[in-house]
Amino acid sequence: MEIGYGIIYTILVLIFATYFFKRKHKEEGQFNGKLRLPPGSMGFPYVGETLQLYSQDPNVFFTNKQKRYGEIFKTHVLGCPCVMLASPEAARFVLVTQSNLFKPTYPRSKERMIGPSALFFNQGEYHMGIRKLVQSCLAPEALRAIVPEIERIVVSMLESLGHGQVINTFHTMKKLSFDVGILTIFGGKLEARYKVELKKNYFIVDKGYNSFPTNIPGTHYNKAIKARKRLSELLSEIMNKRRKNGKVEKDLLGYLMESKDNGKGSKLSDEQISDNIIGVLFAAQDTTASVLTWILKYLGEDSKLLEAVKVEQMDIYATNECGSQPLTWAQTRAMTLTNKVVLETLRMASIISFTFREAVADVEYKGFLIPKGWKVMPLFRNIHYNPDFFAEPHKFEPSRFSSAPKPNTFLPFGSGVHACPGNELAKLEILILLHHLVTKYRFEIVGPNNEIEYSPFPIPKEGLPMHVWRNELNHGA
Ligand code: HEM
Repeated sequence: MEIGYGIIYTILVLIFATYFFKRKHKEEGQFNGKLRLPPGSMGFPYVGETLQLYSQDPNVFFTNKQKRYGEIFKTHVLGCPCVMLASPEAARFVLVTQSNLFKPTYPRSKERMIGPSALFFNQGEYHMGIRKLVQSCLAPEALRAIVPEIERIVVSMLESLGHGQVINTFHTMKKLSFDVGILTIFGGKLEARYKVELKKNYFIVDKGYNSFPTNIPGTHYNKAIKARKRLSELLSEIMNKRRKNGKVEKDLLGYLMESKDNGKGSKLSDEQISDNIIGVLFAAQDTTASVLTWILKYLGEDSKLLEAVKVEQMDIYATNECGSQPLTWAQTRAMTLTNKVVLETLRMASIISFTFREAVADVEYKGFLIPKGWKVMPLFRNIHYNPDFFAEPHKFEPSRFSSAPKPNTFLPFGSGVHACPGNELAKLEILILLHHLVTKYRFEIVGPNNEIEYSPFPIPKEGLPMHVWRNELNHGA
């Protein structure tokens, strides 16, 4: 029996050794002799280092690798060979100066769920055309006009909370960012019944998006695929109604319906429009909700800072006659301290720790080879936590934003051709929420705790349960 195990063991060792030798040879030998692959390790056959990545906080994995190998290193995760890059220059190289050598890449199941025509899956002329439309709806001139509408959404969300109620902060913020997303897309003219239906189906898709992609009846994924189909039908219905009315609305849906598919000159199909609408909703919702949750955690844990933010906001509140006048765009621009708190939250929380691209050709970077087909990951969080760029990076210190960060070191919204077009909207939404929350409410985190969950963005454990009370004395808008 023992001899039998010994033979099996020897055969297995030989198979693994041959596999490793062949793979190493293939990965390093197929390229010209001058360039070498970055340092790093590729882990076990097939699984690579995926288990090491996900058996701990992924950021610990990235940080340890950077300490060991430096700013550029190779690894093998989620079935793909990858090069990870942890310096501002490298992030700029991939996302800005040589972005034509790297294409966006997402798992097929995610692409299918959102819709393959959504702008972030694409590149080239089609991407640029859609991007311009999205940018024009989210540019400061457009946002200035919707400040009162965002304010109305924020006020009504806060008023819906019971006095002294314990809320799941993340879920509450998700509802807020969904409503603001709907406002941006449909310009506040969406019939209530459509909003209800869109919300219902969107949240089913949202649940399935991060589930295991098995399309078997009853699974979250399967339900999400069905809800995604229903979303397309609803959006087509809304578009047909608009076509019948004959009026061109000045909102994202209106722009997309009027646009021509670049190069081809034909109008975008309903399917292309739906993919982009759902894409924008997705890009806008969990991101903004996570940052809002983190900001309330940081403020909730620092009473002095919260008091200082409150003083800044109470000044505006008083100017606006105890909130009976609406907030203005100019006032949101002048919230100096609160704005620094937002920026520091974006850095500390780094909710998008990295992004993915794929090399479309063999690329040389600083004498290293990034082979065609390999995934390339600029590590935003590592840059945000590098003490050379942000002193005492683990300290929450809004005053560090009194001067501008060094170029390419602050990348919460990415950079280059795919940089976030919603960054001003996200910041505006956060400022408006903070204004109303700190001037008219008190809040307290329930059982403060430093554990983090991934959903998939990092959020405080259990969505940060929080008590919220309305201040009876400060009546206003
Ligand atoms: C605090 C909240 C947000 C954060 C941290 C954030 C972050 C990002 C980042 C890092 C990217 C670039 C990803 C890459 O290069 O692979 C991105 C892209 C994008 N974001 Fe945001 N985002 C936020 C809110 C929003 C909002 C509110 C919207 C829209 C209303 C939005 C729409 C988009 C879109 C459409 C893209 C894809 C752009 C393209 O591919 O050209 N985001 N976002």
